[in-house]
Amino acid sequence: MDGRGLVRRVGLVGSVRGLRTLRSAWRRRSADARALPPRGAERARTPGPLTGAKPGPGGGVVRFARSELRIRVAVGGAVFWAWDGAGPLPSYALAGEAPAPDPRAVLEPDKDGGWQVVSERLTVVVSREGAVELRTPGGVLLRRELPPRWWEPVGGGAVRWVQRSEVPADARFFGLGGRASGPRLRDGVYGLWNTDPGGRFGPQDDPLYLTMPVQVVVSDAGTHLAFHDNTWAGRVVLHEGEEGAGSGHDRPGTSEVRMEGGPLRCWVVTGTPARVLQGWTALTGAPALPPSWALGPQHARWGFGGEREVRRVVAGYRERGLALSVLHLDIDHYDAHQVFTVDRERFPALPALAEELRGEGVRLVSIVDPAVKARPGGAVFDGGAAVGERGAFVRDATGRVVVGEVWPGACVYPDFTDPLVRDWWGSLYAERLAQGFSGVWHDMNEPVSFAAFGDPSLPRSARHRLEGAGGDHREAHNVYGLAMARAGYEGLLRLRPGERPFLFSRSGWAGLQRYGGTWSGDVSTGWPGLRASLSLVLGLGLCGVPYSGPDVGGFDGFPSPELYLRWFQLGAYLPLFRTHAAIGAGRREPWEFGAEVLEHARAALVERERLRPYFVTLSHLARLSGAPYARPLWWGAPGDRALRDCEDAFLLGDALLVAPVLERGAVRRAVRLPRGRWYDTATGRAYEGPGQVVLDAPPSRIPVLARAGAVVPVLGADGGLRLEVWAPAPGRAGGGLVVRDAGDGWERAEVERYTSRREGSRVVVEREGGAEVDLPVRVRGLEGVSPPAPEG
Ligand code: GLC
Repeated sequence: MDGRGLVRRVGLVGSVRGLRTLRSAWRRRSADARALPPRGAERARTPGPLTGAKPGPGGGVVRFARSELRIRVAVGGAVFWAWDGAGPLPSYALAGEAPAPDPRAVLEPDKDGGWQVVSERLTVVVSREGAVELRTPGGVLLRRELPPRWWEPVGGGAVRWVQRSEVPADARFFGLGGRASGPRLRDGVYGLWNTDPGGRFGPQDDPLYLTMPVQVVVSDAGTHLAFHDNTWAGRVVLHEGEEGAGSGHDRPGTSEVRMEGGPLRCWVVTGTPARVLQGWTALTGAPALPPSWALGPQHARWGFGGEREVRRVVAGYRERGLALSVLHLDIDHYDAHQVFTVDRERFPALPALAEELRGEGVRLVSIVDPAVKARPGGAVFDGGAAVGERGAFVRDATGRVVVGEVWPGACVYPDFTDPLVRDWWGSLYAERLAQGFSGVWHDMNEPVSFAAFGDPSLPRSARHRLEGAGGDHREAHNVYGLAMARAGYEGLLRLRPGERPFLFSRSGWAGLQRYGGTWSGDVSTGWPGLRASLSLVLGLGLCGVPYSGPDVGGFDGFPSPELYLRWFQLGAYLPLFRTHAAIGAGRREPWEFGAEVLEHARAALVERERLRPYFVTLSHLARLSGAPYARPLWWGAPGDRALRDCEDAFLLGDALLVAPVLERGAVRRAVRLPRGRWYDTATGRAYEGPGQVVLDAPPSRIPVLARAGAVVPVLGADGGLRLEVWAPAPGRAGGGLVVRDAGDGWERAEVERYTSRREGSRVVVEREGGAEVDLPVRVRGLEGVSPPAPEG
């Protein structure tokens, strides 16, 4: 947190906490000054000339004078390459073992004196200087890795490296975790160091809480994902290319990944966007399936105050007939901000309150912060101190427990990179379950230590177990939140094996989806924050984390009624749909913005509930295929350049196109359409893509279009499941997948496939496999033509 962040953070300057943050920052700086000597003389190294090669399973090793390059094509098509002897394991990102090598992929000499591996989806060509080209089976270049460069400290220590790459001139970059300025990542420097920006952020702030060295690159040549499996601090410099830039020649796009240590190894997955995400989640793990109640509307606030206020808010929803599925309790329900405690004065009977709310269909979710108050006698502190031989808490290079500054004051930090600590921490969730909570919301896990200057986290020299390998915070920092998520997820699973854990986490890294989702963090209240909300969700989805959403209304301050409403309308179509705000910020309940906003927010809630079966289906499809619920418009047509540049709309699954209003005062907006027929769901009017249309966006709604032929599971007015079918264009077929809600346990979900086609003026809906369509069908988009199937 810089000075600006400090002032933002609830006015710390001059306060007791302000002084403590000053002290904590000094402590961090002097620990690092002692333990991490300034960079001395370094030796630069490049691979040097090629000297030989040795084929092996799925590829082999190409030797150079000063390094060697390992290439391995895995079953399923992912390509792994690594320098200096690095292998795929150990890895925090991978879900388990590395995938087996594809025996059909063989390393062979190429015609230019280099080597190549030809595989089904990619050809990998290694030049004599150590450049690595990834080409499509047709020979088109997707990515060229230039020979890397290393800097080795003469006296030993972490080896820095840089890897420059080129991509086609027309390519667009996406991903790198949660970025506020996207989803298209323009020219710039993107940090790889999970960071709390300190109070609130906008599109200009980078990095944020959840970074990942995962690039998704989309060009005419194809789509690929490149993952530099390295948890160290680093940064990525991106430059988009330009076609016909100089004397008619294309200037390629470039990526430069610079890391302060750790292995130089990379996975590349190619194919259609859907195949890329499938391959990526096959590698890093299937997204956890949220319980279906987590797909309903949620409300949170830092500073509800107490039980009475919680009841008043829930009653406010009930009395106005507004759907509410989850209420979140923030740190103010803790006793003096200490994790795994309850303020008994404000919440004298939390389990009873939870049960009462559950009876009304409202679940409670608890915030969980990692930092533990440094106070002997505190149950969590004492319990942690007794873990293993050295206790659970992170120590500095001299062996002293690191003390930082967070909400409870002086705090210590569990080392989640230690399996013993994860076990211990996971067991603490028994207390949360006993209080009646149904899920958890992990926060401050970058991890944060408030700092008057410098990095608001632990000293870089702090020591971590790193699964037994040992290392310092430079290596462990970025996976702190990921490892905490694992601890929480596995703990909940052990404690309540019959139910799917619900967890979302502010920080994380590649693979977070195995344990849960994430949210925007403290997105600033304003139109730029609204835009950043969508950027984050789309970018994270492309990195394999499909379940996320913003603080609807913005975290700080007071949104105008119009801004609140537009945020609410966007949020209603995102996986995590949650209103939330800081202590001291304005209210975020839908009735706090006047009668008109209330009516329109009600409509958004009603539509969200009507679409609940569709969200359930999308959650299962995300688990099965890695496809995010919210996808960029180019998802099905990555070759459409106009779609690649369209950042103000998204696809919700295959069926819907959502075009939120992101500008003040707008009551109409341009909407870019992918190929095919699309219906404005509000008017039923059909439009033909590709192209751009201008649609009405009155305060009552944002434009949502349905793809012709789509079969969408929805709730009917009677609360029963039914199929909404959008008439296919004549001569064209359509369809959709449906997964019915089978409860919040581990029941196997069946994917039902439906097809739709036009027969004259009729629309015929059939279930694949010949089974009968046992759901009521409502056909839409057939103006003046009576629906052929019964109404639900
Ligand atoms: C952090 C979180 C925010 C939460 C606050 C208090 O700023 O991002 O959501 O309300 O801490 O716990």
